[in-house]
Amino acid sequence: MEKDALSREPRLEARRPRSSKRVWPVLAVLVLAALYLSTEVAFLRLDPRKSQVQVPLHAAETLAKCRSLNLKPAPPVSFSSRLQSDRYEPGTKPVLIRNASIWTGLDGGKDVVRGDILLEQGLTKAVGNVDSLVNYADVAEIDAKGAWVTPGIVDVHSHIAVGSSPSLRGANDGNSMKGLALPWLRSLDGLNTHDDSYAHSIAGGVTSSLILPGSADAIGGQAFAIKLRSTTERSPSSLLVDPPYGLNGSQVDFDTPPRWRHMKHACGENPSRSYSGTRMDTVWSYRQAYEHARQIKNKQDEYCSRAVAGEWNGLDDFPEDLQWEALVDILRGKVKVQTHCYEAVDLDAFVRLSNEFQFPVAAFHHAHEAYLVPDVLKRAYEHPPAVAIFAAFSRYKREGYRHSEFAPRILNDDGLKVVMKSDHPAIQSRWLLHEAQQAHYYGLPENAALASVTTNAAEVLGLEHRLGFIKGGYDAGKLKYLVIWDSHPLALGATPLQVFIDGIPQLETPFTGKKDESQAAPITPNFDEEAKAAVQYAGLPPLEATHITSGGVLFRNVSSMWRRDESGVHSVFQTKGAEDEGIVLVENGDIVCAGSMSSCGAFVDGGVHVVNLEGGSIAPALVSSGSAIGLQEIAMEASTSDGAVLDPLEGSLPSVLGEGSIIHAVDGLMFETRDALLAYRAGVSTSVTAPISEGLLAGLATHFSLGAKHQLEREAVLQDVTAVHVAIQHSGGASVSTQIAALRRLLLGPHVGERGTWFEAVTNGKLPLVVNVKNADIIATLLKLKQEVEAASGTPMQMTLVGAAEAHLVAAELAAANVDVIVTPPRSFPFTWEGRRILQGPPVTEQSLITTLFSQGVTVGIGHQGVEESAQLTGWSARNLRWDAAWASIDSQGLISMSDALTMATTNVEKLLGVTRKAFDCDMVATRGGELLSFEGKVVAVTSPRRKTVDLF
Ligand SMILES: *[C@@H]1O[C@H](CO)[C@@H](O)[C@H](O)[C@H]1NC(C)=O
Ligand SMILES: *[C@@H]1O[C@H](CO)[C@@H](O)[C@H](O)[C@H]1NC(C)=O
Ligand SMILES: *[C@@H]1O[C@H](CO)[C@@H](O)[C@H](O)[C@H]1NC(C)=O
Repeated sequence: MEKDALSREPRLEARRPRSSKRVWPVLAVLVLAALYLSTEVAFLRLDPRKSQVQVPLHAAETLAKCRSLNLKPAPPVSFSSRLQSDRYEPGTKPVLIRNASIWTGLDGGKDVVRGDILLEQGLTKAVGNVDSLVNYADVAEIDAKGAWVTPGIVDVHSHIAVGSSPSLRGANDGNSMKGLALPWLRSLDGLNTHDDSYAHSIAGGVTSSLILPGSADAIGGQAFAIKLRSTTERSPSSLLVDPPYGLNGSQVDFDTPPRWRHMKHACGENPSRSYSGTRMDTVWSYRQAYEHARQIKNKQDEYCSRAVAGEWNGLDDFPEDLQWEALVDILRGKVKVQTHCYEAVDLDAFVRLSNEFQFPVAAFHHAHEAYLVPDVLKRAYEHPPAVAIFAAFSRYKREGYRHSEFAPRILNDDGLKVVMKSDHPAIQSRWLLHEAQQAHYYGLPENAALASVTTNAAEVLGLEHRLGFIKGGYDAGKLKYLVIWDSHPLALGATPLQVFIDGIPQLETPFTGKKDESQAAPITPNFDEEAKAAVQYAGLPPLEATHITSGGVLFRNVSSMWRRDESGVHSVFQTKGAEDEGIVLVENGDIVCAGSMSSCGAFVDGGVHVVNLEGGSIAPALVSSGSAIGLQEIAMEASTSDGAVLDPLEGSLPSVLGEGSIIHAVDGLMFETRDALLAYRAGVSTSVTAPISEGLLAGLATHFSLGAKHQLEREAVLQDVTAVHVAIQHSGGASVSTQIAALRRLLLGPHVGERGTWFEAVTNGKLPLVVNVKNADIIATLLKLKQEVEAASGTPMQMTLVGAAEAHLVAAELAAANVDVIVTPPRSFPFTWEGRRILQGPPVTEQSLITTLFSQGVTVGIGHQGVEESAQLTGWSARNLRWDAAWASIDSQGLISMSDALTMATTNVEKLLGVTRKAFDCDMVATRGGELLSFEGKVVAVTSPRRKTVDLF
């Protein structure tokens, strides 16, 4: 852009005999240049002996440009004294938030101000005590009643709008496949304005995001920070936060410090996959690109030193190249280098690159192995990069296999800056705060956990003068991005009461009926030993439990106990206070006594193993469903996975399978996968898993123990076949009506082969049909098909829906048809067009999908929250079922009790998916320090009457 401006400048032609007329412009330029130049630049010389020196007309501008080359990004000098935000929308009322607990982000995240916040003209005018409002006629007052206020959540890694939600082919602008190094591309140019994610993210308190190109390329292009609110202009440009000057070709003021730019890089698997290359190719493409940029930079520096010395002769155009100028800016320290890099090999290579070409790295994103190589990061040029990571999302590919949930606290302890990020829509940005909450649960201190999605994130973007802090008065930072929370932001299910962007409230009629009296952060367990082991074993610490197979185990100081029966989960006892000690005695995995020391004491003999739960709980073990857990280790490594079944609607099946074949998940089970063992250690003791399938007919699901070693162990497989699983979806393959036609035939017959036998059982109501479906129209069709089948067979058929994003639209009809639902994900997101009509839940809608179904009398089970659509990518999230269930209760404003939530994650899942075992012999989970469905309890044991063990962790 600058180049275009310069090349249009008229120039004096060299070697032309000079007429007197031409002397004046030269002198004028000289005088101008002298005025322009700052003192440190040498005065232009005109060597009398070399009267040939031709000073070009643009000399002054060129010299200014030369001076600007090494200006570092900074806010303009006037930034801190402005009286109105540049983003102020006329007509926005001043807002006074009274009596808030204000987490300011200052003092390393330890500063809390109890008081008021005054927002005016898009700025924070005061923080603390606002006594007088004499000058304010029309102020909107909010009584926060002591609620927490934080800076708006900042997401440093998002693909909002360069893709779209719902996902559509017409808005797939995140990755160019036109080369490995494409630093000239800009995410802004692909930023669609119709992504449902904007509003969705705001509902989670996210106010700004860095929109990165994808990771298909080694250098994928420039990223841009945006705020998420809609603007009156409705353009992508109007969303930008501090965009680099001159984006639209307007003349840059060379004396103003520039604004930060951002460049996406990606290491490892992704660019290798996109270009059928290797890590070696990717790193060479970086070096080649940076070498090219370095040559341009050197030419510029040489040019400028000659220009400054007045040696204009032979100086042609300023050496620039629009394709490479952004990389030159990196070498000049004007760009935040944002790099997707997972493994030690990649981190090491990129740190070498940063030293070879001498540029700092703002952050490594993903960085699943950063906690194993902190010294490598500390060797990076100029300063250690921040690490922008996930809490638990991992093992989907080899690069993330050694992920540790303790990475945030380990890195923080090592003095590295920790940022939690979403990679939206991988993890949905709306739940970014939940990433910080999980990091906190696993040991990241409170101040660092809050900083990880606010102040640290703002610093990684170079936007700490605008975002990430709350500062009042005429202080440097004037924040107008903030969130009022209904509970402590690190408490499970914390929901915005209001979100301000540019001082403008974003939630029209926020629904939150929940009241958290304590407003305190959860007191999380101690994981020091586990964190140490994660490093010691390079990310693969042993996960096997200690099995107690003989003698009793006495759980002391048990505050609460829950038990299952056929109707669900019920409270057995709640102790009254610290003095009142609950006791649970287990023998051979069986609970033989529960109550007080006086009632159970007689059963206790000398040899018992004593476990103090320190006020914890005993509750039924949870049941996972809907993921590929037990059928794979690493989703994206075919050699570690059972693989997908063949779809009978897509070509004929191999003849060796014979007519009417059907696949049994139990035949492909693999035990002791890390997802399974980690879920087990999080109180999920069994899973119902169907064969991995992308088509109509998945096959027969199975119910098995996540803590077992192999299939032949006692009670490793609890039920070979639980139900027939199918999916009806807009897949882009066979039409929905074709899929329905096939399903109708499968149900009504003729019943061929083994498949026919199982479908006949479904038709006769002996086995549930589990249908993976999102769309309300398809659900309606399924309800009609059910009627048709029942009319033909004369028997009620059992049908369960899984997913069912749009089921709230037909909730009453589902209840009437006796069709129940495993809600997956429990917090809806419009991933696809067919599932776009979601209920967002509080604070946007009063009802969620779960509360709507529940209040209509539909039996609800809770599936996995997971990632995008694929069951294959969700095994890691089984361990979070305890929190997803708790959250369903918290979000329900009193409708769904904790025992209802436990029921939804245990008996209901089993009942809806065809598990026929009896409730009395189920596994139980012991948690220390708090409840299973909380951020305070730590799972320390699973007792299993069927496997006759107590497994201690
Ligand atoms: C602030 O709110 C808390 C909680 O509702 C209340 O106890 C306290 O009295 C309030 N303080 C003021 C100054 O209103
Ligand atoms: C270009 O952007 C600048 C702000 O960077 C703005 O002041 C100017 O009006 C814009 N020009 C046009 C033609 O849009
Ligand atoms: C139970 O544990 C809690 C939490 O450690 C403690 O405060 C309480 O005193 C304990 N109660 C008994 C009876 O030991």
